[in-house]
Amino acid sequence: MAMAMTTGETVPLSGTRPEGARDEREAAAHVREMFGQIAPRYDFLNHLLSLSLDHVWRRRTARRFAHILRRPEARAIDVCCGTGDLAFALARERKRALRASGETATAIPVIGSDFVEPMLERARDKARSAGHRAVFAAADALRLPFADASADLVTTAFGFRNLANYESGLREIARVLRPGGEVGILEFTEPGAGPLAAVFRFYFRRVLPLVGGAISGNREAYRYLPGSVAKFPSSAELARLMERCGFSDVRVSRWNFGSVALHTATRH
Ligand SMILES: C[S@@+](CC[C@H](N)C(=O)[O-])C[C@H]1O[C@@H](n2cnc3c(N)ncnc32)[C@H](O)[C@@H]1O
Repeated sequence: MAMAMTTGETVPLSGTRPEGARDEREAAAHVREMFGQIAPRYDFLNHLLSLSLDHVWRRRTARRFAHILRRPEARAIDVCCGTGDLAFALARERKRALRASGETATAIPVIGSDFVEPMLERARDKARSAGHRAVFAAADALRLPFADASADLVTTAFGFRNLANYESGLREIARVLRPGGEVGILEFTEPGAGPLAAVFRFYFRRVLPLVGGAISGNREAYRYLPGSVAKFPSSAELARLMERCGFSDVRVSRWNFGSVALHTATRH
């Protein structure tokens, strides 16, 4: 069940800062280079390191927005789409929701956008081979090439944390959403208390960087992952920031011992 957020904490204003990055421009360049390097092994590692639970989290996220996706004319954009898995989950959910509601009109394709071309190439290959109704565009999430108030839904999975400025990212999402449009941010967060959460924390901080680093050949990228999660705003901080950037009715659902959170909200 999604919990409504009550807010009141102070909000850190910037975004991710990979080691060595001195400002937002360097942070973005670093992130871009890192994802470009791990793109060839990204899907394999994602599914291995999450024991394929990442598919479940994306499917749940897509289901949350079935009420939007069932409208054939509704524009859905997945930013920081990587190799396209959330865009595909949205496209599949759309197909299911349209069939369930007896709608026969052809829906407009889901759009995925990302600023790393090797990730997009993989997304396009996967779309072609599986026949998904999704198209992909190169775009920086902080400067989206979409008109004001042109989208009904904007989602992002495990990408928002990597933005060099969270407030700019949210304002950009708010800009492209129509009033009444919705946002879904799926992210890793610090797990809660309890023995299982402690086991997961150990896995996430110690085992995952070793395995991910060894298989991808990029140790830094898989050290960056737990480090960036530790620095990511808490749910209350993120909710407050979302409210400041034009969103209301912020709700959070937590999965996997609290280590994965879906924040949803409505553009007012
Ligand atoms: C961890 S991957 C997540 C990919 C995908 N959403 C998924 O669920 O697997 C993060 C993605 O965010 C993208 N990204 C990070 N910062 C970005 C930015 N400023 N603009 C566009 N894409 C960005 C990276 O290129 C990368 O593909």
